[in-house]
Amino acid sequence: MTHKNPQTREWQTLSSDHHLAPFSDFKQLKEKGPRIITHAKGVYLWDSEGNQILDGMAGLWCVAIGYGRDELAEAASKQMRELPYYNLFFQTAHPPVLELSKAIADIAPEGMNHVFFTGSGSEGNDTMLRMVRHYWAIKGQPNKKTIISRVNGYHGSTVAGASLGGMTYMHEQGDLPIPGIVHIPQPYWFGEGGDMSPEEFGIWAANKLEEKILELGVDNVGAFIAEPIQGAGGVIVPPDSYWPRIKEILAKYDILFVADEVICGFGRTGEWFGSDFYDLKPDMMTIAKGLTSGYIPMGGLIVRDEVVAVLNEGGDFNHGFTYSGHPVAAAVALENIRIMRDEKIIQRAHEKAAPYLQKRLRELSDHPLVGEVRGVGLLGAIELVKDKASRARYEGRGVGMICRQFCFDNGLIMRAVGDTMIIAPPLVISEAEIDELVAKARKCLDLTLSVLQN
Ligand SMILES: Cc1ncc(COP(=O)(O)O)c(C=O)c1O
Repeated sequence: MTHKNPQTREWQTLSSDHHLAPFSDFKQLKEKGPRIITHAKGVYLWDSEGNQILDGMAGLWCVAIGYGRDELAEAASKQMRELPYYNLFFQTAHPPVLELSKAIADIAPEGMNHVFFTGSGSEGNDTMLRMVRHYWAIKGQPNKKTIISRVNGYHGSTVAGASLGGMTYMHEQGDLPIPGIVHIPQPYWFGEGGDMSPEEFGIWAANKLEEKILELGVDNVGAFIAEPIQGAGGVIVPPDSYWPRIKEILAKYDILFVADEVICGFGRTGEWFGSDFYDLKPDMMTIAKGLTSGYIPMGGLIVRDEVVAVLNEGGDFNHGFTYSGHPVAAAVALENIRIMRDEKIIQRAHEKAAPYLQKRLRELSDHPLVGEVRGVGLLGAIELVKDKASRARYEGRGVGMICRQFCFDNGLIMRAVGDTMIIAPPLVISEAEIDELVAKARKCLDLTLSVLQN
């Protein structure tokens, strides 16, 4: 491949000689060479070849307030000068982590006033698993260990995170899941609903939780974890019947409910948290990504007061990370939340960008390749099919990957999960930028269809 910028080739050589990229086929990437992203502003990225690309995925769902906000850089620089690092072990703390804990408690659902910080969403879910088991042990029920999760859910890539997740292609590498984690079906009507109506299917999928609790015995179940809307699984918006039925089941049995808010949190649904959107009452919420708009790594676990009251009786919680509540990350997160609040970013997304994006995206339903368009807030999915009525796919053609490549080549980042195209742009995307996104998406759908027809 020829390059306009000779440095592109140099960077690609560094990649092939020294870098092992996440979720990549190392050998294939060596041959092809990665796209080198050099800078970004607002909703746009630029690569080393000078191409401007509309980032329809906000990085990895994280750049909520958009790229290039100097205030975050300044918050980091100020904190680095003042106190670049100190740990929170051995009964110490520092102002940024305490102020951030309060700021999160202020926006979290009522009664969720404590935060345990981690470096990522995966570590947040590892923390959750250990905290859930510790909680039940303190309560004298150490057998309540099993965590129920969902097929095709995503909860991270550490051993516990990948085990909690229901991605079989991840389980296949490294003997996962670890014991004590079981999966129930997902509420993915378009892919798995068969002849049921979406509402019937939602009840069917929710009832699987009750069946699993009864099969395992409630005395052996510690928690149920779920994303309010599955992100990496393909922006799976559950049927309206799903969450109300799950709530009924959770109210009936004495288990904890963990909402994985790593994607849905910090405004993605047009509310602060996906749990607000669906009126869920979680006992714990995993957070990351939008917490710092991705500018610096940070995650955490928000914990309900009643759970904390039990943990308070349990002595030491023997768990923590060198970078738990890192002062620089905390300062950046605080500034990010301040911007979200002061500029009413979520409120504006809720009132303007979200309804406009959902309306414009649904216009793609008339495209011959599109079987369904769905979404909530600033999350969207486009199902690519051969036949709209039967929801049949172009089996074995890799349609999603073809479309994704056309998107790259035409200045749009849209991700493919199988044959489902997904988007999650920064919350600050404007109407004109949404028009550009949808126009590019339509063009790439046309190009994909033309390949399939030849
Ligand atoms: C819902 C959910 N939980 C957890 C994670 C893991 O977060 P991280 O990659 O920061 O470890 C992700 C990452 O995409 C996620 O989408």
